Amino acid sequence: MKNFNRIISVIITAAFLVFLLVGASITENKADHEDTDSDKSDTETSASFNPYNTTIGISMPSRKLERWNRDGALLKKQFEDRGYQVELIYADDSYEKQNKDIQKLMNDHVNLLVIAAVDASTPTKTLDKAKEAGIPIISYDRLIMNTDAISYNVSFNNYVVGKLQGQYIVKALGLTNYDVTRNIEFAEGDASDSNAALYYNGEYDVLKPYIDNGNIRVVSGQTDYDKVTTDGWSTANAEKRMKNILKSFYADRQRLDAVVCANDSTALGVTRAIDEEYQGRNNVIITGQDGDEENLKNIVDGKQSMTVFKALSNEVIVTVDLADEILKGLTPGESLIRNSNWGFKCTYDTLSYDNGTGAIPSYLLMPTAVTKENMQKVLVDTGYYTVDKDGYLHPAD
Ligand code: BGC
Repeated sequence: MKNFNRIISVIITAAFLVFLLVGASITENKADHEDTDSDKSDTETSASFNPYNTTIGISMPSRKLERWNRDGALLKKQFEDRGYQVELIYADDSYEKQNKDIQKLMNDHVNLLVIAAVDASTPTKTLDKAKEAGIPIISYDRLIMNTDAISYNVSFNNYVVGKLQGQYIVKALGLTNYDVTRNIEFAEGDASDSNAALYYNGEYDVLKPYIDNGNIRVVSGQTDYDKVTTDGWSTANAEKRMKNILKSFYADRQRLDAVVCANDSTALGVTRAIDEEYQGRNNVIITGQDGDEENLKNIVDGKQSMTVFKALSNEVIVTVDLADEILKGLTPGESLIRNSNWGFKCTYDTLSYDNGTGAIPSYLLMPTAVTKENMQKVLVDTGYYTVDKDGYLHPAD
């Protein structure tokens, strides 16, 4: 019996040693394969993490534009669907109000901030405080410049947005096939928005060769970026400026062929100005961006030529998945894309989006050019929009 007990005890000790060794080797393997980013399993995430007692603070810039209303609502819903608490505040286009909003969110002890800045060129002082308090910040859609408080940036490839607009103009004006001269004007975004310069650069890089060789004339002479921006991206400001241009440079039956508009709110203003002030009979080509309902209606009615569609619901999915990983204590990187089944294209860029303090890791989605011809395929068949009996499109979310 004594021998039997000894044998059992040897077996148990051996089994325990094997257990320890295997355990150690698993841990070692894990350490070997551990990526710099979050290929870690969920069991390794921060022990204290629980979405139900975690609050997301969302600061949106404006209620005036269709898109920010949808962004805010979609973000709120998706975070809540995952169990998070959400506080969503709109800054009503005021830099000062946004500063106070962010302070309030911090006073309310949010655990992570998602910010679409009113003025992305001037970081609010509150961001430094958020950093000191260890609150991660996701810069949403507009990269916030000159602050190291930003952890990540989620946006579209905004340079490509501008390129799509420029390429559309070149094709629609027949510049690839004919040696003709066409007259165009520019209506760009708000100078404080870091995206606005990217749109302009994308457009200008495509159009510059034609401007240089004389195939494109900008009759007003207003080509420099600081001459063509639109304060607050406002429809009224774009309309006012375009009316002035039409009165000053096109009153004498001068033909206007196209206006490069950086987004749909500026396109609306330009369309109104042309309706009221332009003497010519030709259909002026007008670009846009966002796929706002009123602009899609104008595209169906032939008053606007194209828009650049950016699937906001996808931008929201990336933001929510990213926030989720950050809050679980992971360090998201390329693996966020690898591990997700997003079904849409997204790239991880750690080099190009320098906000003045260094490159901010960025998740970038791809925009798509939409015209009357492809809107059914790109917007409706994909489920992003529905078409009513009247033939006009409405966002499905
Ligand atoms: C956004 C555009 C929007 C514009 C005006 C930009 O930062 O990327 O989608 O049209 O702001 O709100």
